[in-house]
Amino acid sequence: MSASPQKCCINPSILSADFANLEAELARISNADAAHVDVMDNHFVPNLTIGLPVVQRLQKVSPIPLDAHLMIADADRWAPMFADAGLDSVTFHVEAAVAPIKLARELRARGSKAGMALRPATPVEPYLDMLSELDMLLIMTVEPGFGGQAFLDVTLPKIRRAREAVDGSGVNVAIQVDGGVTEENIARAAEAGANIFVAGSSVYGKPSPEEAIESLRKNAQLAFAK
Ligand code: DX5
Ligand code: ZN
Repeated sequence: MSASPQKCCINPSILSADFANLEAELARISNADAAHVDVMDNHFVPNLTIGLPVVQRLQKVSPIPLDAHLMIADADRWAPMFADAGLDSVTFHVEAAVAPIKLARELRARGSKAGMALRPATPVEPYLDMLSELDMLLIMTVEPGFGGQAFLDVTLPKIRRAREAVDGSGVNVAIQVDGGVTEENIARAAEAGANIFVAGSSVYGKPSPEEAIESLRKNAQLAFAK
């Protein structure tokens, strides 16, 4: 159980939004902390979404900050260009980066928060010495590539160990979880130590995304208060 001092954030994933109306879909989640933008290249993951030109336009029209999750190969080359677009945070996958410390520094130098993502089976321990280079650690709670999958409880011990390491080293690194987050399981992720929650189908799949955000937030905050 972790009483996280960090802010609880709900970041809906627009992967579950209507791709023909993204500006309007962003307006439907204006009470969210940020919009999570999933970029997939059909190499790192077996799916294809949007690329830099669309993300650059979203950045111009979004009423809330953008949190990009790059599920793309050759992150060292591409991620800095997303930071240049003015995004609040840019998260690359460590499995796709050759020089993650250099890349994290480059993202920060270009004015964006630096996030690093781990697939469900990637251990966190090899990266604990570089926490101070990061603003956010994204622990995937499904295999990246598709929305609507079931939350993998097997990732909870990793979230717990990451939280212990963050709190123990005194660095200010947010822990984000992404994949299968629902009103029912968000408390488990919060108790394990996550403080930023990505939710696609459990926000855009509901009649009122704004109400869905508020109930996710309420359940996470109740878990923090325990
Ligand atoms: C999956 C994406 C997630 C996805 C989450 O690869 O990174 O952001 O959109 O969607 P749900 O909440 O439906 O699992
Ligand atoms: Zn994502």
